[in-house]
Formats: sequence, C-alpha cells, structure tokens
Amino acid sequence: MAMMMMMNPINLQFSNLNKITNPYPNSRIQQARSLNSSLITNSSHHNSSFQSLVHEFNPNIPIQQALTPPSSWYTSPDFLSLEFHHVFFKGWQAVGCMEQVQEANSFFTGRLGNIEYVVCRDENGVLRAFHNVCRHHASLLAFGSGKGTCFTCPYHGWTYGLNGSLLKATRITGIKNFNVKDFGLVPLRVAIWGPFILLNFETKVSSQKGYDDDDVGTEWLGSASKILSTNGVDTSLSYLCRREYTIECNWKVFCDNYLDGGYHVPFAHKDLASGLKLDSYSTIIYENVSIQGCDGGEVKSQEDFDRLGSKSLYAFIYPNFMVNRYGPWMDTNLVIPLGPRKCKVIFDYFLDASLKDDEAFVAKSLEDSEKVQMEDIMLCESVQRGLESPAYDCGRYAPMVEKAMHHFHCLLHQNLIK
Ligand code: FES
Repeated sequence: MAMMMMMNPINLQFSNLNKITNPYPNSRIQQARSLNSSLITNSSHHNSSFQSLVHEFNPNIPIQQALTPPSSWYTSPDFLSLEFHHVFFKGWQAVGCMEQVQEANSFFTGRLGNIEYVVCRDENGVLRAFHNVCRHHASLLAFGSGKGTCFTCPYHGWTYGLNGSLLKATRITGIKNFNVKDFGLVPLRVAIWGPFILLNFETKVSSQKGYDDDDVGTEWLGSASKILSTNGVDTSLSYLCRREYTIECNWKVFCDNYLDGGYHVPFAHKDLASGLKLDSYSTIIYENVSIQGCDGGEVKSQEDFDRLGSKSLYAFIYPNFMVNRYGPWMDTNLVIPLGPRKCKVIFDYFLDASLKDDEAFVAKSLEDSEKVQMEDIMLCESVQRGLESPAYDCGRYAPMVEKAMHHFHCLLHQNLIK
C-alpha cells in the first residue's frame, strides 16, 4: 500500500526523476529496463544479469536517499525462482500452527515453490515432516489435511507409516537389489516455536532430532524471540479459525503493504484508523524481524515493550510471516508465493479462551478484519498492475514510517547476493 500511496507523486515528477535520484547514475532507471530486456533475450547470461538486477537495489544508501527495488523484482518469473532458492529454501520457514497437528495421526500438506511437504504427528505423538512425494514414481501422497495411520499412494498403493518408513510396496515380486529401508519418505527438518510450526528446506536429513524452543527461537527470530514470547506471542490463546485469500500480486507487494508503518491506514482503512492512535505508530528493527507498535503508546525500546505490555504489536518475521497481537486477539499472516504476480495469504486467528464463545463479538471482529483484508487486496492488486506499467521502475521511501519496508528489502538483497 505504501507503494501505491507513493505512486502519484512519483509519477507526476517522472520527467524529473534524475533530479530526485541524484545520488545515482543518470542511467539507473534505463539500466534496470535494459536488464529486464536482456533477461528475456539472453538466457546464457542469466546468472550475471540476475546479480546485476539484485544490485539495482543498494542497501548501503540511507533510507532518506534510497530508491526502492526495481519493478522487475516484482514481475520476473526467473527472479521469483531466485528468491525460492536464496530466500525461502534457507533457514526456518513458518508453515502452519500446532492446531493443525494437535492429535496423533493427524497431518497437513503444503507447497512452497516446487517443494511439496507433509507435516504429521505420528502415533507416538512425535511431530515429523517429509517431502510429500512417493518414492515409486513420484506421485503426491497426501492431500489437504486429515487423520490416518499411514499414507497410501493413490497411484499404485505403496504405503508409508507416519514415521516415513515404507510399510508396503505392492506387486514388486521379482524386483532385485531393493531394500525397503532405502525407500522411506524423504524427511524434512521440523520444529515448533510457540504455537507455530516451522520447516527447514535446506538439506536432506537422515534423522529427525527434536529442536529446543530456545535454539529455534534464536535461529528463527534472533533477539526478537524473547520480545515476542514475553509480549503475548505464545500458546496461551485458543485457536479460532483460518481464512485464505488468493491475491493477484507478487508476494512482496503484500509484505511491503504490511511494512509501511501505518502510512496507508488513514487513507485506505478509514474505519480501522478511527480506532488506532496512529501518532503512536513506531517501528523497532531486529536482525530478521521488525516490530511495529501502535495504540499502546510509543514503542521505541525493549523497556517500552516491558512497560507497555502487549497491547498492540505487529511483527514481521522475514521473509513472509506476520504476527499481529492486539488485545485478546492474535492473527498470523503467511504469504505464500504462487507465481510472480500471484500469492496466497493464510490468516490464522487466535483468541483469548474466555471470549471464544461470545459469538456476536467473534463474528463482528472477523467481519471487521475481512473488510480490512478486502481493502488491502484491492491496494495490492492495484500496486502490482502499476509495477507492470512501463511508467514505473523504482519508488522512494517515506523515511519516518517505512523503515521496516527498507529493512525487508535490505534482507532480501543480503540473501540474494549469496
Ligand atoms: S507412484 Fe506411488 S505407488 Fe506408484
């Protein structure tokens, strides 16, 4: 949304853009455009071109002078492929919540890029995760979510236990050099932090050791781990429900919209704005996390958080997970890229158990939330169309409010150059 708010003034001054972007080479915008063309016409130079494209954003330029990343970061299919490998397939990624695998023999499936996964709790209560791919001829094994004591492949019936072992390979009489132990499901690293389930897609793993909450918290959240857990982002609330939205925009457009420090709220969410003390909006940046605070007074330090408690806290956990903790509520937003101009956002709602049965309160709150989501979706889809326009290459940051967005872009750059 912030980007949309910025489009009009930038476009009005488009012919003066070189003046605005004085710290940069005059041909900066043209370079971005020609790079875009070369990516299409000269595949043999993809790697070097991509690195050049990544460097079109310079994280070392202070936010007051910085340009936003070029629009090709938001439109190129190949750039998205780069993001999967350098951003999403590194480190811990949120994929769901404990509620989805609360009981023994329950499971849920998902897809991130070209990785199909299944998370399950086996009959002994051990949480496990695997690539959701049959070892016979690669059919997907499980679909959606549910309960069962095994995974039976819908293609030829090979059957796997929830611990991943191959229990039955049908009609393989005569096969040679085949050991069932070599054909179990391929495991993934899985961990829990608070109410959230995390996967790590980095390497194949031969065993699934448990992960300590503190270790995972430090790896995933850095120093923000303690801030979040002591400010109400924990397992104390009851799970309520899930809402999913498919949005015609690049996944980063949704993230950017979240990270504009409330910039768009008075313009785009008038009803929401009336209930917020927008002057109190503030942002703290941690390693891989940024936390925006509002409504509970200005939050500028850990001491402020300690003093003010968890009244309203909006945490962005790089690259694609948001945790919103306000009053008796918590909701999480998981942004899943589906293509260069399409993403799915999963909202999970949690509520203080004492209010869960207050149907009128719950219905009104969810209705209000839905209205905000619809307003955001309109903005995000509008921004995506603007990003695809030849009139736009880069924007600027509003330095006082868009710090978290700039931090997000710096983290992306840091991952993408590796
Ligand atoms: S692909 Fe699964 S049993 Fe054949």
